[in-house]
Amino acid sequence: MIGSFLKKSGHPGQKFFLLTDRNTHEHCLPLLAGSLPVFESEFILEPGEASKSLEEAEKLWQWLLEHEAHRDDLLINLGGGVVSDLGGFAASAYKRGMVYINIPTTLIGQADAAVGGKTGVNLGGGKNQLGSFHHPVAVFIDPKFLETLPEDQMLSGYAELLKCAFLAGDRHWEKVIKARWEKETDLTGLMRTALEVKISYVKKDLTDQGIRKALNFGHTLGHAFESLTMSKYPPGLLHGEAVALGMIGEAFLSWRVTGLCWSKMTEFTGYLRNNFSRPPFTIEDSEEIIRLMMMDKKNSGGAIRFSLLKDSGDPAWDVECEQQFILKAIEFVVKEK
Ligand SMILES: NC(=O)c1ccc[n+]([C@@H]2O[C@H](COP(=O)([O-])OP(=O)(O)OC[C@H]3O[C@@H](n4cnc5c(N)ncnc54)[C@H](O)[C@@H]3O)[C@@H](O)[C@H]2O)c1
Repeated sequence: MIGSFLKKSGHPGQKFFLLTDRNTHEHCLPLLAGSLPVFESEFILEPGEASKSLEEAEKLWQWLLEHEAHRDDLLINLGGGVVSDLGGFAASAYKRGMVYINIPTTLIGQADAAVGGKTGVNLGGGKNQLGSFHHPVAVFIDPKFLETLPEDQMLSGYAELLKCAFLAGDRHWEKVIKARWEKETDLTGLMRTALEVKISYVKKDLTDQGIRKALNFGHTLGHAFESLTMSKYPPGLLHGEAVALGMIGEAFLSWRVTGLCWSKMTEFTGYLRNNFSRPPFTIEDSEEIIRLMMMDKKNSGGAIRFSLLKDSGDPAWDVECEQQFILKAIEFVVKEK
């Protein structure tokens, strides 16, 4: 499928550049034997969030220059969200926009990160402080890549699927709540829901001015938890683990501020607490968490803005919350069950 797409969409003399990380080079590249075109060169990243940096982006630009890549040559991102965010970002700036495709190999990548054209790197301890909207010309999703993905990474991706199930409304959410996460859980339906929700929001709002912000539910607190734990509690929370805790806090805020009913709030947060680990941070970290949230891109006028829910399937965005409620939400996240 990839081969025939490239044959159809490519042009004579087009060069192919491959971006992987050490794990996707080892586990995923062999699965593409015979489907990928001969590539000019491969750049292999160190796995993990630390590679989503301006330093790595600069190395990518140097690498592309050294190999005389043109903007209509093709960058192939084979990996999880780190590879697609960094590769997409590098492609967006290289010669004012190089063509690229994503072949996501993690659950987060397949259900979320590879689709929608948001690219970025971290800066100054904050998530995605530099970035762009630059869409891949194609995304190839194949569940077979997930066979080698470690279970903690699968669970991390499950958090983004849960977010979309809750955004999709009661019918979807009720299906999820009946089952506890297990390695064997069939994710096909949830994946489809997640992609449908994401694509419908992205189509309505390509550049994140309105409804697309709903997809950030759990991410204002979640990104702060991710950044905090990377620096203070290494190795830090995985992205989805941080988002799961962020959703616990933001469901609480949704109850206090946008009217999510108590029973849904407790059902949703109870499900998250049962499936994800307790946070490594404490209430003493609240000040730092708030400082990190002040770096969030959605903020405006010096105020932190959240994407919350009025009900399942009924999002609200650009919501400002009083500091006392934010502190209560952090307390709610760290409290015992
Ligand atoms: N752009 C977006 O819309 C968007 C959306 C959600 C998340 N993100 C970003 O995505 C990142 C998280 O994504 P992620 O969880 O995919 O992270 P990741 O890319 O770091 O992958 C997680 C780990 O799994 C390994 N791995 C990948 N595929 C594998 C496979 N098939 N078998 C074995 N190991 C494999 C990787 O090497 C890495 O160690 C975060 O930086 C987050 O901010 C972006």
